[in-house]
Amino acid sequence: MRVCNLRCESMTNPLGISITSPRLTWNLTSDRRSVWQQSFLVTVWEEVLDNGTLRREQIFSSGEIVSRDTALVLPEELIRSRSRYDWTVQVTDNYGETALSQENAWFEMGLLQEKDWSARWIEPRQHPVYREEIPTEEYIADLQTFDEGRRRWIVDESGDVPAEETTAQSHEIREDILYPCPMLRRCFTISGEVVRARMYATAHGIYAAELNGQRVGDLMLAPESSSYFDYLQVQTYDLQDLIREGENTIGITLADGWWAGRLGCTGESVRYGDTLGLLLQIELYFADGHIETIGSDAGFVSTLEGPRRYADLSIGEKYDANCILAGWSESGYDDSGWTAVMEKSYDLSNLRGQNAQPMRYLEERPLAESYVSLQGDLILDFGQLMAGTAAMHLTGEPGSVVVLRYFQVTDREGNYYYETMGENSQMTDTVILDQNGQADYDPLFTLHGFRYIAITTERGAVTATQCHARLLASDIDVTARIVTSNPKLNKLQENIEWTIRSNMLSIPTDNPDRERSGWTGDVQMVGPAICYNVDAQAILRRWLVYCRHEQGAGGEIPAIIPNWRIANSIATDSTAGWGDVVIHLPWHLYRKYGDIRILKENYTMMQRWLDLEKSRAADANPPWIGEITPKRAEDLQYLWNADWNFGDWMTPSASVDEKTGEVRIGAMCLCWLMGTYYFAYSTVLLEQIATLLQQEEDAAMYHALYEKIRQAAIHEFYDTGKIYESRYVGAQILALHMGFYREGGKDRLMRRILEQLEEKGMNTGFSSSLVLPQQLCENGNIEKMYDFLLNENKPSWLYEVDQGATGVWESMEGLQPNGDIAMCSFIQPAYCSIGNWMMEGMAGISAAQPGFTTIRIHPNYTDRLDYVEASYRSEQGEIACRWDHTGATRDLKIRIPANTTAEVFLEGASIDTTKADNEDVNALNGLAQIHEKQNGLLLVLGSGEYAFSWDVTVQ
Ligand code: BGC
Repeated sequence: MRVCNLRCESMTNPLGISITSPRLTWNLTSDRRSVWQQSFLVTVWEEVLDNGTLRREQIFSSGEIVSRDTALVLPEELIRSRSRYDWTVQVTDNYGETALSQENAWFEMGLLQEKDWSARWIEPRQHPVYREEIPTEEYIADLQTFDEGRRRWIVDESGDVPAEETTAQSHEIREDILYPCPMLRRCFTISGEVVRARMYATAHGIYAAELNGQRVGDLMLAPESSSYFDYLQVQTYDLQDLIREGENTIGITLADGWWAGRLGCTGESVRYGDTLGLLLQIELYFADGHIETIGSDAGFVSTLEGPRRYADLSIGEKYDANCILAGWSESGYDDSGWTAVMEKSYDLSNLRGQNAQPMRYLEERPLAESYVSLQGDLILDFGQLMAGTAAMHLTGEPGSVVVLRYFQVTDREGNYYYETMGENSQMTDTVILDQNGQADYDPLFTLHGFRYIAITTERGAVTATQCHARLLASDIDVTARIVTSNPKLNKLQENIEWTIRSNMLSIPTDNPDRERSGWTGDVQMVGPAICYNVDAQAILRRWLVYCRHEQGAGGEIPAIIPNWRIANSIATDSTAGWGDVVIHLPWHLYRKYGDIRILKENYTMMQRWLDLEKSRAADANPPWIGEITPKRAEDLQYLWNADWNFGDWMTPSASVDEKTGEVRIGAMCLCWLMGTYYFAYSTVLLEQIATLLQQEEDAAMYHALYEKIRQAAIHEFYDTGKIYESRYVGAQILALHMGFYREGGKDRLMRRILEQLEEKGMNTGFSSSLVLPQQLCENGNIEKMYDFLLNENKPSWLYEVDQGATGVWESMEGLQPNGDIAMCSFIQPAYCSIGNWMMEGMAGISAAQPGFTTIRIHPNYTDRLDYVEASYRSEQGEIACRWDHTGATRDLKIRIPANTTAEVFLEGASIDTTKADNEDVNALNGLAQIHEKQNGLLLVLGSGEYAFSWDVTVQ
């Protein structure tokens, strides 16, 4: 037995966190079967400086704890600012074998208190960032608002809203309102041997630091995106390898980033402030026992003359190779022309550590192809859509201006195509070559969603060499692998993985090209698939902290978090399905990772959100409501039907203009149902959460509330035929999911669903796509589910693959067979929600108990696939499952991690016809229970690897 995968707050050796009761977790592995943890013992050492010598002092021992839990939350009293803690865990298993972890596991705290800072905020001389405000009226002109503009009646009783024509905005970059990136520097001299060197840094804006001419660390876009006024991350760096005796120089470049730059669809700037600033503190511990601190202060000087002439996350960066300031972050550089900086006294109470994995360049893609397009552009194709940038060496005429336009899809002739709607998303980097006609270009402060780059220059020719694209995102592990006998399905899984990774940009985003925003609804819907595909625990837990900060006094949840106050946020605030993320996401996280803290810390937010839904349902009705009889009045209290919502967003048939066939983003349908559906859904989840948190009274209250909502929905929507007759299949799917039907109604709704799917294919929007697989499979229509998954006609996932997709599209109508391109993102996570079913339904791996302490293995077989092989790195370790079938024989090979139990269903198997490891199944080592079921065998197994084979006798 081995103890491995030691993690602190789901991160491997995190540097500079500020979580003061960190949770430590580990896994066990063993070659034996049915291994579980009998007891564990966690020991923690603190690194202390004793007269200039670093030594480890044991500060905690849990004592031997008899438990199967592989997690321990450390007591807060232990944790001190700046300290590094090493830890081990010793485990004894049920065979009496004892093992001590061998990994070098540690975590280190950042500065935890305001008084830890002696540095001051400083601001270099700069142009304040140009405030671009988009007139709100332009964005909400079409909204019929009432109630102080907070709500919107749906246009008519059908609740369907056709989308307006959408156009790409101008390409023009207004360089006159974009300003150079300030560079700051300061020298300091040290004498004596340094035994520990740390730098703590953050910015208003984003920053990159150099020490003695070398980049400090490899983090990108720090301090990343967060709800800045409440939560600004500070990064911690180990300077040991960069610091040297004698003179040292620290250099920092600042850019607008999320603090001041253009954000979201409307591209407004200055969401938090218009002035860039820096807070930095270097702490040096010497062998002779003394400590020196160098903080940002008036001793820094700055310039605006550097090579980054402007840098905006969305617009792009302008780099002038003639302005390179060689040696600017080294000693001996002549900074006599640089100007003094201003000290500022900003509040430090919003400073936090780096509490989730930082952003980095994660993966490189070399150039796949380059060609000159018909329009004369040099096109670089990296073969993969991603969030990131490309680095390259450019050669051309001395001093010429080279423009790099990043984009997602070409037009049908292979030309550059700009499909991004909204303002200020040019995704264009501009490079000015030096006097030798050269530039090494490596963007620092921007991020694009792209596969291609179109290169043009205003004079002469340009060549690009050493080109490579890099995925730039939060550095989280990929945790899923799914391979099947169908290569197109494999490509879909690859696309899901790239799309999800490209949208974990410190916050979960909707896309990396147009908006890069934390749209709450998208996170709600794709949360389960995110948790399978990547280890999103820390990132999503931190994002929920932002949700708590951003919740309004009346329980409101903005549609985008961090709330960039999009122009129409008043109208889109607190919408059904979007705001509900505050209940759904903690629930998904609890189910996937088994950490009950996530429910506890968000419970009040959840309750406040549900109270808002309840009061909004009770206090208004839409204008078309008709006569309100006393009997009806009671029901109407429980229908959330009057407020603005996005409906079953992106429903394919609603997105295509019936007359022109043109695809338009923003059409809405089923708005009449969505509020009540989510009100019911969230109430059901909150009842379960309250029960888990032993809030029995709350649970009973939510139980009763759900019944009221359900009855009201039945009377108003089911009995009236509104659900059944809807031409959008989402209506029937969602009604089935929430029990909005009377006895016998289930079959009736299912028939209607099948009829509609037959007629229109996968005509489901964001919300109904998530629950469709479960509804089909639980109601005996597994083959139907495979019809959709394997279907290659539009709209479908494999249609996208057939069109050459390397990401999952925002709209299944994104590219038309005739080559028409919709104004949408081609790397948007919402439709990755199918990834959840691909793991749970197709591959058959799901959690029977939260955090996979008990695993369910129950694949949905189909004759249309010869095999499916999948693995998932769960909280308990790697789970693997492969099923094959040849003729009437099925094979199932599984790997169950130590310390877990699996409930494995062998569909169609019977005891006589089943072989386990080539032996009689009854004799199986590791078998705890065996149950003969009507349509197969249910085995309860201990950990280990198993192989089953059986002839299908029951179908
Ligand atoms: C985003 C979505 C988001 C939506 C609101 C879009 O522009 O990309 O994914 O949820 O707006 O409906």
